[in-house]
Amino acid sequence: MAEPDYLTTTRDSYDSVAVDYEKLLRDELDAKPFDRAMLAAFADLVRVEDSGPVADLGCGPGRVTAHLAGLGLTVFGVDLSSEMVAVARREHPGLRFEEGSMTSLALGDGVLGGIVAWYSIIHTPPESLPGIFAEFHRVLAPGGHLLVAFKAGDERRHLAHAYGHDLSLEVYWLPPERVAELSSRAGLVEVARLVRDPDRTEGGPQAYLVARKPN
Ligand SMILES: C[S@@+](CC[C@H](N)C(=O)[O-])C[C@H]1O[C@@H](n2cnc3c(N)ncnc32)[C@H](O)[C@@H]1O
Repeated sequence: MAEPDYLTTTRDSYDSVAVDYEKLLRDELDAKPFDRAMLAAFADLVRVEDSGPVADLGCGPGRVTAHLAGLGLTVFGVDLSSEMVAVARREHPGLRFEEGSMTSLALGDGVLGGIVAWYSIIHTPPESLPGIFAEFHRVLAPGGHLLVAFKAGDERRHLAHAYGHDLSLEVYWLPPERVAELSSRAGLVEVARLVRDPDRTEGGPQAYLVARKPN
């Protein structure tokens, strides 16, 4: 079956910006205490349950993958963009990164203790999100946790220039209650959510949802 256009566009865009994206964002978490707090809480939950490795889905250059590894998790990254995967492997040679799409993961049922989707669902058209949350549910082990970071709002913004490059990307800002509903319709149980004010660069509030696959 032919790949949906949005996946091709997303891959092409991130292939073209991968090297500069990594340079610009490598230390970004240092200035984001609430982001680090959500990642730390997620890591604690995953450690307590101990039901398998964590996948950082849409890992980009692997900065969040490496942060999670630094918190003591067994974690690997998956990304649509081969250039992002190449950059991640170069920057974090001790970690595993694979090419793949969260629309259809090369993973068995119930094999993951956790999933992080850190700003990686933001380019998926809303009508395709139920399929992605169903895939999250499929690959999580009972007791496994999901952490999703996204942009809070209710609009589509077109991105024509970013990270020093021309590109063409749609960014979907999503109401937190809609993301929570997608997660619960897929069979996950909400654990926590946070909406925080934007910093100077973010252009709107940022949201984080933690959910758990029931035992
Ligand atoms: C905004 S970047 C975030 C990257 C990384 N999580 C970070 O915070 O640095 C979005 C990433 O999600 C990836 N992505 C988007 N849709 C994807 C999909 N369906 N499967 C895998 N990766 C995807 C893109 O290739 C890109 O690297």
